[in-house]
Amino acid sequence: MADDGDRHRQSRLFTDDDGGFDADRARDESLPVEDGEVIDTDDLADHQRYVEDRGIYDERNRVNDLTGKEWKYATKSVLPEGYPPAVQHDLRSEHGGQKPPRLCAELIGRFSKAGDIVLDPFAGVGGTLLGASFCEHEGTGLRNAIGFERTRRWIEIYETVLERENEERRERGEPPLAEQEMQHGDCVDLIEDVPEDSVDLLLTDVPYWHMDELEQTRNERETRESKLGSFDGAAGATGAPDTPETDPDGRNANADADSERDPDDRQTKAEWLDDMAGKFDRFTDAVAPDGHVVVFIGDMYREQSYEFLSADLARAIESTAPLTLAANLIWYDPTKDLHVYGYPFSYVPSMVHQNVLVFRLEDERESDD
Ligand SMILES: C[S@@+](CC[C@H](N)C(=O)[O-])C[C@H]1O[C@@H](n2cnc3c(N)ncnc32)[C@H](O)[C@@H]1O
Repeated sequence: MADDGDRHRQSRLFTDDDGGFDADRARDESLPVEDGEVIDTDDLADHQRYVEDRGIYDERNRVNDLTGKEWKYATKSVLPEGYPPAVQHDLRSEHGGQKPPRLCAELIGRFSKAGDIVLDPFAGVGGTLLGASFCEHEGTGLRNAIGFERTRRWIEIYETVLERENEERRERGEPPLAEQEMQHGDCVDLIEDVPEDSVDLLLTDVPYWHMDELEQTRNERETRESKLGSFDGAAGATGAPDTPETDPDGRNANADADSERDPDDRQTKAEWLDDMAGKFDRFTDAVAPDGHVVVFIGDMYREQSYEFLSADLARAIESTAPLTLAANLIWYDPTKDLHVYGYPFSYVPSMVHQNVLVFRLEDERESDD
């Protein structure tokens, strides 16, 4: 079996001819040499430094502050974490699409360094911002986060969460979480004021495609002729009553409904993809050449078929913005409730995972220089 929990074996790439671990080669090629070995700090290369209890840090690391050992762990493509309800979870739950701040902190730790700027243009109730603040006390150092959110209620919730959380932390004698910068407005306008190349990590969770509104609109308008091919054809088909639209948060597609949204802002899937791709193209100007763009996106089950939204979104972004998909990580939440909508006639998945698309900037800028 390839996956043995935490006991993945070290790659045998750095073995000598007899199959032994080749420390010289590993050191030369800057992989960690501490695995299962007593560290002899005299053996470290000039660019390596031993960090007590953490392992060897390579000072050429431009991606994060992780030691080699921590980096190796962070290469796992699945994050199997069921985060306990924490950080004023009840209050944040009013949103419906909120992300666990500690999961955000984990991703921020993988794709940024202390002191870096993290931007979330769809900030909701502030999962990313809280995660950036956690990094000060439970990571390698504070990141400065900026959030854009167009619904005032979600901003108020972020502010109340921070206030309450810090009251409780004070009572427990723990240092407070830093307040991050939450800006109210449309990300399309607010991004204009963010200087080019100034953001080290863009971490966000895209607004969902509001398919149930589209459905209503279709009914109200007696359904116009579709020009959008098979997808819209499926939307017009009759859905089985026991196979509702589900997304990985277990909410319906309206859960992050924006009270200030224009009622005419209803999109087909193709329009939603175009809209998102165009926005990411604009956001990317703000991202530094070494930076990353990391996007949460859940797939959906709908009308008896699986909507591979993560793949669709990845392709749409890659074909529009100067970004290259570097990874698709899976956040697996083992605590999610299971459902049995199709039983016993039809297989309907319980969505206990979300995708985390990781993009880096295309090399284009370097070759332009
Ligand atoms: C999926 S939620 C993000 C949830 C967030 N990760 C959290 O932990 O709360 C997407 C958010 O984007 C906001 N949004 C959608 N379109 C926007 C826009 N054009 N500008 C700013 N915010 C927008 C929505 O109001 C919603 O709160």
